[in-house]
Amino acid sequence: MRETVYVLGGGQTRFGELWGKSLSDLIREAVDSAITNTKILPTDIDMVIVGNMVGGETAEQAHLGTFASSLLPHHPPALRVEAACASGGLAVHTACAFLESGKAETILVIGAEKLTDVAGDIVTSALMHAGDSEKDLPSGLTFPSIFALTATAYMHRYGLKREDLSLVSACSHRAAVKNPYAQFRKEIPAATISKSPLVADPLRLLDCSPISDGAAAIILSMRKESPVHIAASQLANESLSLIDRESLTSFVSTRTAFQSALKEANWNRNDIDCIELHDCFSIASLLHLEDFGFAEEGQAIRLFRDGDTDASGSLPVNPSGGLKACGHPIGATGVKQILDCWKQLTSQAPNQVVNATHAMAHNLGGVGATCTVHLLESI
Ligand code: COA
Repeated sequence: MRETVYVLGGGQTRFGELWGKSLSDLIREAVDSAITNTKILPTDIDMVIVGNMVGGETAEQAHLGTFASSLLPHHPPALRVEAACASGGLAVHTACAFLESGKAETILVIGAEKLTDVAGDIVTSALMHAGDSEKDLPSGLTFPSIFALTATAYMHRYGLKREDLSLVSACSHRAAVKNPYAQFRKEIPAATISKSPLVADPLRLLDCSPISDGAAAIILSMRKESPVHIAASQLANESLSLIDRESLTSFVSTRTAFQSALKEANWNRNDIDCIELHDCFSIASLLHLEDFGFAEEGQAIRLFRDGDTDASGSLPVNPSGGLKACGHPIGATGVKQILDCWKQLTSQAPNQVVNATHAMAHNLGGVGATCTVHLLESI
């Protein structure tokens, strides 16, 4: 980063099926909690950025920048950004750009989504708008079935077994037991995951991140200091449709954003103490770890088999519980990942990684069509 952007902290709602709360309730709760936890004055905020994907379709509420700004007494300038499941990461990236440009000094960044007030098929269709409506949608693909295609290609190419895949979700569920904000806080053995109902062969119910409601908010500032700052903020994209991709088992956007982030922060990959990555489906975690270069192609499962990815391991992955066990309220996820990294770097995480000083948040939109990578460092 050209300028130092501090993460002052933030707050979030619990993620889950929150029947009693509307999208505006969720945003209000996250904002109140972020302001209370960071002890800033609401009037210190000079801009608001909201990440959200389908507020209009699932909660009848668009124009969320203005909605969130209206919660503050002075109605600062506000906008909403959208990049499918990477909407939250994009909101953080946009905030960093505004701060670096000098247009704002303290920004409230919110991610929010309300999915469970409409039927599951409506949510599935709305989420699929993140794919290519002319090349992918007409074939009947949904996100579970797209990632099932990647899993099938990966298993065929590298010989991964169905039982191996279950180790990934088991790791997330183990981690989430300690997280009071997680949707599912129960340890689930790999054998149970392998036997859960089939969703899109070979992916089963417990390979999938769930349909969730939730909101998270953080405060970024160049004026007020904090022990944690953003060392890199990167955004990368690739073609929207799967048809135009060279590989189903690697995402160019992840590789590009990650390498650019390392360069921006002047870090080596081994500097990273813990990772919050976009595990929308179990297979995705394996692809990402290989795209980061933490494992050779086809080998990432070894990290889960050997316990390296646990909070006490050599490469802690999703110590919060990730999307799989915390839940995945689309626009909220990328903001919540930054909050989780901040908790790790300030020793306030429920599943603390010992002596963590360097953390990474990786947020994906569509089938890797958009990727944001943020690197956070404690001083
Ligand atoms: N993990 C763990 N438990 C889950 C779960 C999940 N992913 N999804 C549902 N459950 C639980 C529910 O809590 C429920 O438990 P209960 O009976 O004790 O209340 C039970 O399993 C059945 O849930 P239900 O909501 O009826 O499942 P569903 O069949 O309607 O939906 C999926 C399951 C996997 C199809 C749905 O969660 C889904 O589409 N996930 C992917 C979302 C997505 O594509 N996101 C974008 C990523 S890029």
